[in-house]
Amino acid sequence: MTTPHISAPSDAFAATCLLPGDPLRAKFIAETFLEDVTCVTSVRNMLGFTGHYKGQPISVMGTGMGMPSCVLYSTELMESFGVKRLVRVGSCGAIHESLKLNDVIVAHSASTDSNMNRRQFAGMDYSSAASPRLLQKLLNYVDTQALPVAVGSVFSTDHFYGSAPEQLKTLQQMGILAVEMESAGLYAAAARHRAQALTVLTVSDNLIHQTQLTPQEREAGFSTMIEITLNALVG
Ligand code: HPA
Repeated sequence: MTTPHISAPSDAFAATCLLPGDPLRAKFIAETFLEDVTCVTSVRNMLGFTGHYKGQPISVMGTGMGMPSCVLYSTELMESFGVKRLVRVGSCGAIHESLKLNDVIVAHSASTDSNMNRRQFAGMDYSSAASPRLLQKLLNYVDTQALPVAVGSVFSTDHFYGSAPEQLKTLQQMGILAVEMESAGLYAAAARHRAQALTVLTVSDNLIHQTQLTPQEREAGFSTMIEITLNALVG
């Protein structure tokens, strides 16, 4: 099966696929956490892998950054490769005072400044929400393990460098936890395909205090989030 951006046998992906933005993160996740790993696609170096975690088949594939790229890969995975559960694992900039660098967030919903969802929703505002079942699964796991994971709303922006202070204030007034660039598009794409989607994020930047993780801290924090996500999914 070949789609414009993925070249792999039609059964190459597991029903559950983790989606980091960075293809080298996908490689790191596959090599660090999965067993019996095969690289199943590498078109444009957007690497995808399938392996097993605690005996269950799991895939992991990079999506690139931003909603157009994330939605494009997710759509092809759902339409042509039978992926049914899409779990974005990424980083975000925190804007809520309760959050610290390295904290893990689960996005129950995602607002956006993008026009992507309106274009496929007759100009109206679609309410981008996580799959309740996937969210429940993750929360059950973190509650049983007493892990400090924040749950709330995120903001998916098209502008990495465009967060003016007054815009951040508006987001804060609505209780939004953090800013990232993919979830609103991913949640809508999953809804359209009757698939399940969830986003789990590590706080890599604090947009209020202008602090950020070092590359080494990013890697450690990222691994914690992946372990939580994989254990919740196979539980
Ligand atoms: N903005 C958007 N996406 C992000 C950020 C940010 O500040 N940090 C990590 N992902």
